[in-house]
Amino acid sequence: MSNFFEEQVLDVHHWTDRLFSFSTTRDPGCRFKSGQFVMLGLPTEGRPLMRAYSIASPHYADVLDFFSIKVPNGPLTSRLQQIRPGDRIVIGRKATGTLVIDNLKAGETLYLLATGTGLAPFMSTIRDPDTFERFEKVVLVHGVRTVAELAYRQKIEEELPQDEFLGEMISRQLIYYPTVTREEFRNRGRITHLITTGKLFEDIGLPALDPVRDRVMMCGSPALLADMTPILEGLGFTEGNTGEPGDYVIEKAFAEK
Ligand code: A2P
Repeated sequence: MSNFFEEQVLDVHHWTDRLFSFSTTRDPGCRFKSGQFVMLGLPTEGRPLMRAYSIASPHYADVLDFFSIKVPNGPLTSRLQQIRPGDRIVIGRKATGTLVIDNLKAGETLYLLATGTGLAPFMSTIRDPDTFERFEKVVLVHGVRTVAELAYRQKIEEELPQDEFLGEMISRQLIYYPTVTREEFRNRGRITHLITTGKLFEDIGLPALDPVRDRVMMCGSPALLADMTPILEGLGFTEGNTGEPGDYVIEKAFAEK
């Protein structure tokens, strides 16, 4: 058995000149948990060049969604951004990653903190009913440079609350907090700043972060993770891992250099 599934591209959406997303067919044998990633690449002769991609679609969907940055001269993304419906891509069979709910202790509020394409795993997490059974409130914070980079915003704000199966949970339990750093928007500033100043909690009407009650998943730029980790540790949060649940888990958004 090959280590890869070969899938067909169904749809490609270019959000900006830096960001795009695409969906593919899904082999019935492709199993994953919300928040996990797979290796993905383009078919070539010989061994394909693969990069890690978080799966942005829910675990029960019959398609797979991916959200990608376009790295200028990036060995994979400079080619991957040219894909069109009907093209083939290869996907590793094994999904893995730390951003799964089982790696967190029980809690009341789940904070999902993402910058840029770090939103991808959480697009899966917020469409998993289990997330809303485990937590009373789910706060999704997405930090980006420009309004146009708030990918999936319409889906989160308009489509999901109307969804036949998820709509009620999303409307009652999900708080979406998009924030923009480099142009005007209703919420401004970096996630770290919004947390340390308390502005985020003021805006959403919840108490400041507390490990007694809150759990955190983070996915984004290495700079975000490097700055947020000491903030959380300073508040008494402990990091969780597979087999050892904690108060927070992290994963860097995968980007090629
Ligand atoms: P900024 O515009 O101030 O750099 P990128 O597209 O470069 O990955 O950035 C996505 C978002 O992450 C931007 O809004 C950026 O803010 C923000 N960001 C960058 N570094 C950090 C950090 N150390 N902590 C929090 N947010 C950050």
